[in-house]
Amino acid sequence: MTTDPLPEKVKLRVAKLRDAINYHDHRYYVLDDPEIPDAEYDRLFSELRNLEQSYPELITPDSPTQRVGGSPQTQFGSVTHTVPMLSLDNSFSREQLDEFGRRIQDRLGDTQALVFAAEPKLDGVAISLRYEKGSLVVAATRGDGRTGEDVTHNVRTIRAVPLRLAGSGYPEVLEARGEVYLPRAGFEQLNQRASDAGEKVFANPRNAAAGSLRQLDPAVAASRPLSMFVYGTGIVEGGQLPDSHSETMKLLAEWGFRVCPEAAVVMGIDGCWEYYERLAEQRNALPYEIDGVVYKIDAYAQQVRLGFVSRAPRWAIAQKFPAQEELTTVKAIDWQVGRTGAVTPVARLEPVAVGGVIVSNATLHNIDELNRKDVRVGDTVFIRRAGDVIPEVVSVVRDRRPKGARKVSLPDSCPVCGSDVSRPEGEAVARCSAGLFCSAQRKESLKHFVSRRAMDIEGLGSKLIDQLVDGDFVRSPADLFDPERVNSETLAGLERMADKSANKLMAAIQASKDVSLARFLYALGIREVGEATAENLANHFGSLESLVNAAKDPEELQAVNDVGPVVAEHVAAFFDEPHNLEIIAQLTGKTGVRIHNPPAKSANTGVFDGKVLVVTGTLESMSRDEAKRAIKERGGKVTSSVSSKTDYVVYGDKPGSKLEKARSLGVETLNEENFRNRLGV
Ligand code: IVH
Repeated sequence: MTTDPLPEKVKLRVAKLRDAINYHDHRYYVLDDPEIPDAEYDRLFSELRNLEQSYPELITPDSPTQRVGGSPQTQFGSVTHTVPMLSLDNSFSREQLDEFGRRIQDRLGDTQALVFAAEPKLDGVAISLRYEKGSLVVAATRGDGRTGEDVTHNVRTIRAVPLRLAGSGYPEVLEARGEVYLPRAGFEQLNQRASDAGEKVFANPRNAAAGSLRQLDPAVAASRPLSMFVYGTGIVEGGQLPDSHSETMKLLAEWGFRVCPEAAVVMGIDGCWEYYERLAEQRNALPYEIDGVVYKIDAYAQQVRLGFVSRAPRWAIAQKFPAQEELTTVKAIDWQVGRTGAVTPVARLEPVAVGGVIVSNATLHNIDELNRKDVRVGDTVFIRRAGDVIPEVVSVVRDRRPKGARKVSLPDSCPVCGSDVSRPEGEAVARCSAGLFCSAQRKESLKHFVSRRAMDIEGLGSKLIDQLVDGDFVRSPADLFDPERVNSETLAGLERMADKSANKLMAAIQASKDVSLARFLYALGIREVGEATAENLANHFGSLESLVNAAKDPEELQAVNDVGPVVAEHVAAFFDEPHNLEIIAQLTGKTGVRIHNPPAKSANTGVFDGKVLVVTGTLESMSRDEAKRAIKERGGKVTSSVSSKTDYVVYGDKPGSKLEKARSLGVETLNEENFRNRLGV
């Protein structure tokens, strides 16, 4: 480091080197057309790095040397998508595509041929990149479409992502959206490296890309040859985009983004179909994986007129390639016992690669399906895998059935605990009758109990639960919190556990003890009680005690939103079981789980009936989630972006641009005090 004033010459040289490196990065990583040899590029890079080392005050976050900056994160922050990241409806046939065309034509009401932008449907991870004044500030995953995870530290390492936009004329705030993916070659190289080192290999490029972005240490992502194509935009402020998707894509390319070279503008549904057939042929030769094509109405004005249905636009559709099928043989048919005791047939297969994933098990759903398909041990079968779903046995190749292929039938007793298996009349599902006395049901219930949307005990995965149950350390959820049964020592003694991870897990168990009533109810795993029902029960009864009292009478339970006779019966039966009540008593008693009840209902129910509210900034007296819940309880709807349809904007400390936008649109604003008055709290 030097104390001399900064020579002007150095500043200029640094700026020049950065421009040159950005230019050559773009040629190499975006255009795939390098201009200079690697050695020359390396010289430019070292010169810049040396200058920055001597004059650290010149380092800026968007300098090309800063891609792998900073130290590992401890957790991911969350990012709200002001413009939601949508999903796409799927079409699986020409007929469905024709219907899509007709729907659009009907809505637009004109007979002119439709113009579509057609693109490959990339099989990676959707990412939104936010640029302010041309510099990358945030990169976030899609998450649930409204809130994603902040993965900026990892996305910065992707060389196809510009840290600074090229050219000029870009909006002050610009969100570019697209897919981060691992090219096939990179995937193979990565797996080769992993298998040479005796490490786990990734099942497919998409998992590898997603796994790389979910790393806390950016050095890991930096070592993975990830790339990105952009295919759209989110928020745009302080500037304007052209009138169509295809024109915007051209501009994004000028500003330094990678746009898929296969993208094309096509005319009408016939044009779409030709594009699909052409890509289906090229698919295996492309350097990246795709699982279909996407058609988007090209003109923004038409997109706006068509609008959205729930989470997907009416103006776009994904035409998926047919699910991938392969042939293999059935080595055995086993029976698996689930959380609610359901006994399900599973085919154990001669391992086979289906669309790049090795499949060795496939579900047969239930005994009726097994009989209908007449699958026998030794049979040759078609296996199908579509996207993320569990592989399934489609059909048997009868001609190839060997002599003596063995039929299997529903076992009379549970394959895990030996208790009776029964199948109520008219139901497809057979169940083990032992409840939590069956270790398989215990394991599955515990896995549900600790899962992310339930008690959310991070790090307590399936293999650990199996060991805890098999070793008889844990028999019920309450045991998880009993320090005599589960402590750093017991955990450290398990396979794949070291002292450090055992301590971390103990901390996660402790941290999970504060839980909302809705999550707790969901965690209990009552049949037919999913997250939404658990939330309704929690809001209706307000406390576990009132729910347990009410559960004595299933009629009373049916007063709850969306609770019908079947759900009511299951809830009543659950709380009628002394064993369940005992575990709940242990959980809330000596193990110290603290259940947080939803805020009490006020007299002001219905003050926000039919109103649309946006909450922005930090409120002092309640969290954002509590404010949202209070609004919903009073009949209002909460959205994330302010528009002319917004009725009120509730604002706290540091409200940001939403408050300004509300004021400019003349939307009524409520400070915390006014808001609490309306709520009646
Ligand atoms: S457009 C308004 N274009 O598909 C629609 N998505 O099911 C927003 N995807 O989450 C998406 N290739 O991850 C669009 N060329 C493409 C795409 C694409 C892949 C993914 C994306 C999105 C999902 C929607």
